[in-house]
Order: sequence, then structure tokens, then C-alpha cells
Amino acid sequence: MSAEVIYGSELAESLRNQMKEEVGELKNKGIVPGLTVVLIGEDPASQSYVRGKQKACDYVGVESNLIELPSSTTEKELLNLISKLNSDQTVHGILVQLPLPNHINEQAIIEAISPEKDVDGFHPINIGRMIAGKDTFFPCTPFGIITMLKSKNIPIEGKKAVVIGRSNIVGKPVGQLLLNENATVTYCHSRTENMQEYTKDADILIVAVGRANFLSGEDIKEGAVVIDVGVNRMEDGKLTGDVEFDSAKEKAAYITPVPKGVGPMTITMLLHNTIKSAKQFNQ
Ligand code: GUN
Repeated sequence: MSAEVIYGSELAESLRNQMKEEVGELKNKGIVPGLTVVLIGEDPASQSYVRGKQKACDYVGVESNLIELPSSTTEKELLNLISKLNSDQTVHGILVQLPLPNHINEQAIIEAISPEKDVDGFHPINIGRMIAGKDTFFPCTPFGIITMLKSKNIPIEGKKAVVIGRSNIVGKPVGQLLLNENATVTYCHSRTENMQEYTKDADILIVAVGRANFLSGEDIKEGAVVIDVGVNRMEDGKLTGDVEFDSAKEKAAYITPVPKGVGPMTITMLLHNTIKSAKQFNQ
């Protein structure tokens, strides 16, 4: 079998075009969706992600405001800023780019953001709502993955989904969203014994490890759906995923590439959440 490649980049473009129209209609009603991104320090990967977010906001007409602060910023200063943004009526979404410098307690920051403006879906209230199966802001990468599967009418209900990786940003929430869609979900992680037993049994395999070529065709069941969340910068500067694409493509029914796979969907779901927030604030 040679898999169909799911280009998140194409789906992202078509969704962003729809959003652009929707934002135009909202603006006619006097509603301008606004996202504020807070970037602390000068991590090049974070700077690059943030630039991507700004560009996407500009494209669809979401008002984006970037606040860049030095890595010496204290937790108290950041909490004060979040408090101001929480009460700013022009701000519908607040995103504090992670990771934060070590002297700032990440969880305290996440919990300080108003759940109504938490377009990352990281606040415990939004995580709780997601676990309860309620509508809320879903974390962007997991939400993007589910949207990609649905766009191809890939059945999720009753399927064996295996998630490799258990981060709060990707692994844990994507498993939860798959469970909400009635998949049978297994999590694998760094302490899992005989991981191949699980990967080879998966109908839907989500790989979010952050190690180039962590899995290859040998680890995958014939006809599986393989979603590669990894973004690994190689020595030659090229980006590659967690899955050895060429061998996996020969076994899978569907596979996502890196780049042009999951990445563009993450930012698209951030736009979706920001527009959703603006609509909720104006209801
Ligand atoms: N760092 C890497 N991914 C993300 C994300 O989705 N949101 C935030 N806030 N920081 C990140």
C-alpha cells in the first residue's frame, strides 16, 4: 500500500479562507477578534512560531498584538500583565508562548489567564470541560489533528488509537479528544515496555515524541493512519518528523508529512479559538 498523504497545509489554507470571510462579517457588526501573544526571552524556535501566528492572524483579519519581554521578566510582572489583558475588552485571546524561563512558574501563569480568553485550552477549567466531553477551547494541536482526520472522513469510533507521548500540550489532550470520539485509546511513553506491541496494533497512531525517525514502517500496521506531530531540526537545517516517512508511507493508509502536516493546523485552530472567543464575548 502507498498511503494518501494528508496535507494539513491545504486544509489550513481552506479553513483560513473561510475564517477570513467570517471575520469580515464580524467586523461589519463591529466585532474585531483580538489575540495578544506574550513572548518572553529570545528563543529562536519560539520567535519563529510567534511570527507564524502573527502572519496567520493578519491573513484572516484577526487583530494581533505581540508583547515581547526580556527573559529577566519576573513572574509577578507577567501576572500583572495577564491581569491587565484579562480585563481588556479588545483582547479575546491570550497566548503566553511556552516554554517560559525557569524562574517563572508555568502552571501559575496558565491558571492566571481567564478561562474565557484561554485560546490555548491549557487552563484547568478548559481541560476539565474537555474531559467532561463539553464544548470549550480545545488545545490547538490536538484539535487540529481531529479536524484533519474528520476532513478525510477517517473513522475514529471503535478504532484502536495509540498515542506516543504524554505532554500536556499534545499527547494527553489528543488522547482525550480521540476518546471523546469513541476511540479506544492507549498511551505509550518513555517508560512503556515493548512499545512495538502497541504501535503495530494501532489503527490510528499519533506520534508526538520529538525524536527524528523514532518510528518506521516496521512499527506500523498495514493500513494504519499515521499522524506525525514531531518537528525536528536536522543538522542540515531541514525539518523532519518523528516517523521515517518513506518506509511508513508504504505501510500506512494515511500519513501526515513534516513540514506541511500538523503544524499549519495548530495555528489555524488558534485562529478558530480566537474567533470563537470574540463571538462568545459579544453574545
Ligand atoms: N509552545 C509550543 N507549542 C505551544 C502552544 O501551542 N501554545 C503555547 N502557548 N506555547 C507553545
